[in-house]
Amino acid sequence: MTDCYEPIETASIDELRSLQLERLQTTLRHAYDNVAHYRAAFDAAGVSPDVDTLDDLARFPFLTKAHLRDNYPFGMFAVPREDVVRIHASSGTTGQPTVVGYTQADVDLWSTVVARSLYAAGARKGDILHNAYGYGLFTGGLGAHYGAEMLGMSVVPVSGGQTEKQVTLINDFKPRVITVTPSYCLNLIDEMERQGIDPRSTSLEIGVFGAEPWTNEMRVEIESRLDIDAVDIYGLSEVIGPGVAQECVETKDGPTVWEDHFYPEIVDPETGEVMPDGSEGELVFTSLTKEAFPVIRYRTRDLTRLLPGTARTMRRIEKITGRSDDMLIIRGVNVFPSQVEAEVLKVEGLSPHYVLQLTEDGNMKGLTVKVEVSETAPDTDRASAASRLRHHIKENVGITADIEVVDVGAVPRSQGKAQRVT
Ligand code: DLL
Repeated sequence: MTDCYEPIETASIDELRSLQLERLQTTLRHAYDNVAHYRAAFDAAGVSPDVDTLDDLARFPFLTKAHLRDNYPFGMFAVPREDVVRIHASSGTTGQPTVVGYTQADVDLWSTVVARSLYAAGARKGDILHNAYGYGLFTGGLGAHYGAEMLGMSVVPVSGGQTEKQVTLINDFKPRVITVTPSYCLNLIDEMERQGIDPRSTSLEIGVFGAEPWTNEMRVEIESRLDIDAVDIYGLSEVIGPGVAQECVETKDGPTVWEDHFYPEIVDPETGEVMPDGSEGELVFTSLTKEAFPVIRYRTRDLTRLLPGTARTMRRIEKITGRSDDMLIIRGVNVFPSQVEAEVLKVEGLSPHYVLQLTEDGNMKGLTVKVEVSETAPDTDRASAASRLRHHIKENVGITADIEVVDVGAVPRSQGKAQRVT
């Protein structure tokens, strides 16, 4: 019997689907009755909020980031503002931030799915958690915090930054679990080495990594350098924050979507058609239990596939390789930063600190990969490492890139979400 936080995680598919339908009916009605945007959008599409099957959802209009911006700041709330106990916002690179709100019941639901996620990652009541996700408007810090407290962990709310001090705290408090972006974790590992601490010797046993794309190659790098199990946590502010999906430590085969609360679909990013499970496309979510900020068919722009459940009944997503926004088109070839990351990590003598620079020569777009030489192998022949990386990228990604192997410290360090493209 799989050991899990709540029985629904391993309920039968039939039980899960009937719960989803019942919750979908309630949510569509709630959104239609209380949010002007949904009422207008459903009416314009000629769909009634009273559905008979889960498949009926495919007839509903999508919700996009533009709709959220148009209703800035509180226009998408489905409850009186006075009933909202928490507000978060995601900065976004351009224009207005996206604002999301939670009732007390929403905060409890969020805490529950994060507690469930941490449990699936192997964390247990009584463990010490070093929470290095940023606190503030970003959902990472507070989301992990409340979930961990609900599970009964001892939470150390360090947030991001003050890297030297974080290493001291890890040394002194001896946490078993760390929650942090993978890019900031690398920063912490480097700092441990600088302080003469063997990263493999710390008390850490489990890392719960997310908020940005990271590859299986990065998992291997972090697991071997820290001697921990590294698992993937996925989420986004619009849907709730971290805890929409979580990878189970016993299988490490992509995050399980907590489908009893967040109903996933994969659509063709061009046509919006729903695609069968297993096909690669854009992930779309409908919340099934949220009060203050219900989302109906929210287009995440994250590209992945839906896969059958393994450690749980619920479906998994394949590790997210990138967002449609992050896709670079280099001389006609689609490239995601994560594909380059996978190749960087294969070359001995190079560090996992890299950044991509887009160059333009007339109409031709080019790519320069700036990557640091490894701190532990400063005498690496840079020309030969660059040539190996160029070759791997040509073979496996299909583009010709310029490679610059730079000094240790020349690539700006991440404090939270890494910026991979400049
Ligand atoms: O990043 C929520 C979060 C916090 C998730 C901490 C996990 C851990 P946003 O700032 O709204 O919310 O950004 C959401 O980040 O649409 C993905 O593109 C990306 N993302 C989040 N988790 C992962 C992951 C938080 N595990 C956006 N793998 C999402 C790949 C991820 N990308």
